[in-house]
Amino acid sequence: MSKITKVKGTQDFLPDDMARWSRIIQKIHTIMGKYNYGQISTPAFEYTKLFSRSIGEDTDIVNKEMYSWTDQGGKSLTLKPEQTAAVVRAYIENNLQAISSMNKLYYIEPSFRRERPQKGRYRQFNQFGIETIGSPFPEADAEVISIAYRTCQELGITDFELYINSIGSPECRKKYIFELVQYLQKYSDSLSDISKRRINTNPLRILDTKDDKEIEILEGAPNILEFIDSDSLEHFKTLLALLDASKIPYTVEKKLVRGLDYYNKTTFEIRSNRLGAQSAICGGGRYDSLINQLGGKETAAVGFAMGLERASMLSNLGSTSTIRFIYIASIGDNAIKRAFKLAENLRSLENSKIHLDVTRRSIKSQFREANKLHSDFVIVIGDNELEKGGCTIKNLLTKDEQFVDDEKIIAFFN
Ligand code: HAM
Repeated sequence: MSKITKVKGTQDFLPDDMARWSRIIQKIHTIMGKYNYGQISTPAFEYTKLFSRSIGEDTDIVNKEMYSWTDQGGKSLTLKPEQTAAVVRAYIENNLQAISSMNKLYYIEPSFRRERPQKGRYRQFNQFGIETIGSPFPEADAEVISIAYRTCQELGITDFELYINSIGSPECRKKYIFELVQYLQKYSDSLSDISKRRINTNPLRILDTKDDKEIEILEGAPNILEFIDSDSLEHFKTLLALLDASKIPYTVEKKLVRGLDYYNKTTFEIRSNRLGAQSAICGGGRYDSLINQLGGKETAAVGFAMGLERASMLSNLGSTSTIRFIYIASIGDNAIKRAFKLAENLRSLENSKIHLDVTRRSIKSQFREANKLHSDFVIVIGDNELEKGGCTIKNLLTKDEQFVDDEKIIAFFN
């Protein structure tokens, strides 16, 4: 029979991967605790219209990357391609603004996008993100950006850079788009089919192009920062000053408009060229109209999401485990009963991992396995030990071996 494989673009996380993953997640929870953010989790799927209304109809995500289906009740549902829309939906639905005018939320959730799989790009991936809801002021943007920056540092990621821009208000963006379209039309013969279409549907998306020829054309395109309104410009300048004061280095990137439609004012990304083509570790920005657009009260908000698979590829968080590993080997039916009970008792020890052999293999094989698992101690129980009412404990590092009476075993390890 043919083997069934995993779906293209998905991944298995084996125990070693999960141990590494847990260290990353633990670090994130610690950082979030320090900034006083509360964790939120939303369902894996939502009504499709939540995403089309927020991310935007003419974005790649909504146009071609969503896993959507009609359920038995005739509703169109979609696996979350990102988290912001779902968090905002939950914020409105659970009336979180009634609890506090300022909500600082974070999440670690799977996202699903049907993109072409490649290094660092998956169809199911995990996002750690934050949504800071309730402040229109640049210090909120600065806090969000510094969390993203600090998280990269604390995960042991080196060689990353912060890119930042402001795309102003929707009104000034209209003026900018008008000028951008005028400019691009001059080069329309050299543009790809998708960009030609986007001149009419969503010209800002053309700034995200990965096409070398288009990138060259865009070098001469109008600069969005010359079009933004005075409020957005002031906001941007204050934000940059706050980043300067916190010694967070950045590059202003005039083409950074992001692939989702809900942003205004600040947009930012952290990238690493060690990731190859999929260089963005994290991306975010301000979205002051989204809550209102999804049926809530006008509330300013800013956030980011970090791709955890990408962060994990770059992270060098070593294991700082000080856990003692005790392997229990036994020979014979009576010994296994004794070993089973001892294993349960030893699990009351702090900072210890107890591995009981349950394969009835030879003592030699059990020792081989204990070495393979990097055990610190092997406890041996055989006829001899049963008769004497104790066990033999071998320290695999020092090779010391000694007989210990049953009632002294816990004390031996304490
Ligand atoms: P995004 O830029 O679409 O933004 O995604 C954020 C991050 O998710 C990316 O920088 C990348 O690291 C990771 N990512 C995206 N697609 C994939 C993929 N196919 N495979 C692996 N990793 C991927 C958002 O999702 C916004 N909701 C961020 C945000 C939060 N803005 C405000 N608040």
